[in-house]
Amino acid sequence: MAVRESWLAAERAHCALTGCPTELLRRAEEDFAGLVAVRQGTPRWWGVPTTIFWYVSAEHYLGELVIRHKLTPQLAEKGGHVGYSIAPQWRRQGHATRMLAAGLDECRRIGLRHVLLTCRADNEPSRRVIRANGGVPDGQADGEDRFWITLEY
Ligand SMILES: CC(C)(COP(=O)(O)OP(=O)(O)OC[C@H]1O[C@@H](n2cnc3c(N)ncnc32)[C@H](O)[C@@H]1OP(=O)(O)O)[C@@H](O)C(=O)NCCC(=O)NCCS
Repeated sequence: MAVRESWLAAERAHCALTGCPTELLRRAEEDFAGLVAVRQGTPRWWGVPTTIFWYVSAEHYLGELVIRHKLTPQLAEKGGHVGYSIAPQWRRQGHATRMLAAGLDECRRIGLRHVLLTCRADNEPSRRVIRANGGVPDGQADGEDRFWITLEY
């Protein structure tokens, strides 16, 4: 609950930047504890078990990383195993690069060997995050570049 205000600030900034729907923001303002409780479990999102990490520094919410434990045919084309975002006010400080590195440790823990990531071809920051973590390009699908990271055990 300590990060409630900074999470809400990050979501407001994200919605303002992208024009995305504010439904999640409204629900969070009403019931932040409920939002956290869902993310503390392993919800079945995208049709697969999903682990959600929030990266925080003291009371500041920095960003989120999700790990989809399996690929559906859709995720195998677009979406992949891992997704992430950094709060707009915390970008360009290396957080996403470090967050993905930590997320890959968790992928190892759940037994993944090859981790798929996809990102829009024009998303240069995300491409750099993936390449910095060992992502090897594997063509494009549905307007997104695909990358595989092979985990060492
Ligand atoms: C993509 C995203 C997670 C990057 O987060 P970040 O914390 O700013 O990333 P980092 O600070 O680790 O930067 C990674 C690299 O991208 C570069 N970069 C970051 N923002 C940039 C920008 N706006 N323009 C150009 N390069 C940028 C950094 O300089 C760094 O490059 P380097 O490794 O060569 O030094 C963030 O921009 C974001 O949340 N975007 C919206 C959600 C999203 O696109 N998620 C990924 C979906 S695939």
